[in-house]
Amino acid sequence: MRATPVPEFMLEPAFDPAGTGREAVGLGSAAAKGLDVRHGTILTLEGINVSFDGFKALTDLNLYIGVGELRCIIGPNGAGKTTMMDVITGKTRPDNGHAYFGETLDLTQMSEVEIAQSGIGRKFQKPTVFEALSVFENLELALKTNKSVWASLRAKLSAAQKERIDEVLATIKLESARQRPAGLLSHGQKQFLEIGMLLVQDPQLLLLDEPVAGMTDAETEFTAELFKSLARKHSLMVVEHDMGFVGSIADHVTVLHQGSVLAEGSLAQVQADERVIEVYLGR
Ligand SMILES: Nc1ncnc2c1ncn2[C@@H]1O[C@H](COP(=O)(O)OP(=O)(O)O)[C@@H](O)[C@H]1O
Ligand SMILES: [Mg+2]
Repeated sequence: MRATPVPEFMLEPAFDPAGTGREAVGLGSAAAKGLDVRHGTILTLEGINVSFDGFKALTDLNLYIGVGELRCIIGPNGAGKTTMMDVITGKTRPDNGHAYFGETLDLTQMSEVEIAQSGIGRKFQKPTVFEALSVFENLELALKTNKSVWASLRAKLSAAQKERIDEVLATIKLESARQRPAGLLSHGQKQFLEIGMLLVQDPQLLLLDEPVAGMTDAETEFTAELFKSLARKHSLMVVEHDMGFVGSIADHVTVLHQGSVLAEGSLAQVQADERVIEVYLGR
């Protein structure tokens, strides 16, 4: 059942004994808003090397993403695409090299939580929504990531937070499914919900690993529209094998091969590149 709207002044303050609750969420967006992007570059990777037991997953990788850009990353399996995202999000530490968010945030010195709070959101290939909770509750939890599940659901949302969730529900086209348990959504809808769970936190940089894998054609088309509408306000890095999808969204494409950048340019440019055809696109 839907709750009756309660005037804002009647709402209890959020349950927040340590006094870190909304500030912690706020810190993320405040820090993100204060992100220093004076040179127009939101992400800088320079000379990144990652090896696993002697196997080089990334080799002297250099990659720059501009503010508001929608960048697609393509390349054969094992090229290092996911490892690159792991480096950006702090899950994997590079052996050496520079990784900066904006001009001043050194990602190699920040924890995964600090990186997420500074405004980098990541979507993995498999959706990880809470199936027993409603669509709305999933978004609510994502907005209050600093608390345990039950503390989060007990804590009241502010009017601004509710408004943000409604906005995101409209963006991901799940308004009419807001009270539906997430477990009953289609695979595509779960993916959209997970994107929504990133968007409520208003990240400046979104990392999306194979977002349209397993989607229907209609869902893939909607994802393309969605990403195009998110670009400029956000910067996006999208790893995808679906060339039709890449062609419909990308400003700029980077081809990774054996842990380094093999080619970069428009999709047409990289598709015409002999080396790219050789290692990835085939003849
Ligand atoms: N944790 C790990 N331990 C050992 N090898 C790994 C690990 N993660 C990735 N690799 C290897 O690094 C290479 C790059 O993997 P990955 O980044 O997943 O490639 P992609 O996402 O482009 O398919 C692969 O050869 C993979 O087997
Ligand atoms: Mg991968």
